[in-house]
Amino acid sequence: MKILAIETSCDETAAAVVENSRRALSNVVASQAEEHGKFGGVVPEIASRRHSENILAVVKKALLDAECALDSIDAFAVTYAPGLVGALLVGVSFAKGLAMAAGKPLIPVHHIAGHIAANYLTENPIKPPFLCLVASGGHSHIIEVSDYTSFNIIGRTSDDAAGESFDKTARVLGFPYPGGVHVDKAAQLGDPTAFKLPYPKSPTGEYDFSFSGLKTAVVNIVHNAEQKGVEINKNDMAASFQKTISEILVSKTISAAKAFGFTSIAAAGGVAANSSVRRLLSEECEKNGFSLHIPPITLCGDNAAMVGAQAYHDYISGKIADESLNASATLGINK
Ligand code: KG4
Ligand code: ZN
Repeated sequence: MKILAIETSCDETAAAVVENSRRALSNVVASQAEEHGKFGGVVPEIASRRHSENILAVVKKALLDAECALDSIDAFAVTYAPGLVGALLVGVSFAKGLAMAAGKPLIPVHHIAGHIAANYLTENPIKPPFLCLVASGGHSHIIEVSDYTSFNIIGRTSDDAAGESFDKTARVLGFPYPGGVHVDKAAQLGDPTAFKLPYPKSPTGEYDFSFSGLKTAVVNIVHNAEQKGVEINKNDMAASFQKTISEILVSKTISAAKAFGFTSIAAAGGVAANSSVRRLLSEECEKNGFSLHIPPITLCGDNAAMVGAQAYHDYISGKIADESLNASATLGINK
């Protein structure tokens, strides 16, 4: 079954053709990051306008790269939640039009389920049940994936998302948006023990995250140094921050796996591209005898192949959109 999937939840206009949840025949991502970078973060109205300008070309390229004619597509899929509503609506409306014109079903996909499904596009795909750490610019979750379409959130962030903390740390260190990848690069050159940063406890649950105290600690150290006219070593700060946040993400995931009896672990989302998160998770899984799946870096950030991969399972479970499909900024993965 060939699915043409569309993703426009934030600042990437993306389309892909995916076969049976296993093989991405194409995966086109048009990033707007450079333009939003001038403003230090995503400007929702600009994101919607750029999606509107780019979506037709991106979808055409996805079909061309996959060497598929539109009439050979069996179903269409689109991210409908969560995300920036104006951005999501561009993808939802476009996908509705396509599905109607082609007379094929439209499958609505939850963005976080999509991130998790990036793990089905690898050579040796993970099979549920498994436990997944989903860490992106907007979300930080530990999710029990009991089936391809059944999710239970075991841990969530009570304040900032992990990617947001990377981006805020990057900003205070003077790196461009989105800063995660710049922090990652700088960290390779720094001493991770140079700064002792806090491991904030979440006030909510044992497997929940809290990152705002960590970000504030970085901001305070940098600002105090500036006031004293002292220059801090940016590579050392990047390395210390990255070490701390990786340890928090990984230790909670491993504890949750032990507590809930999972031996199969996955990671997903933009922060799963981080070299320290990948290394530490792999070390800890090996130590505990757990198997680990992490998508290749190109499938960690927002893309449409992951949406097409999840859509196949949603379709099999009977999740088909009717003509009133709408976008939602905040809809939970279980709804
Ligand atoms: O999954 P994603 O593309 O979008 C959302 O759904 O939010 O994640 C984007 C986030 C950004 O915060 C970005 O800085 C972060 O992922 N990110 C990274 C790395 N690559 C992307 N964070 C740390 N290290 C990286 N190498
Ligand atoms: Zn995402």
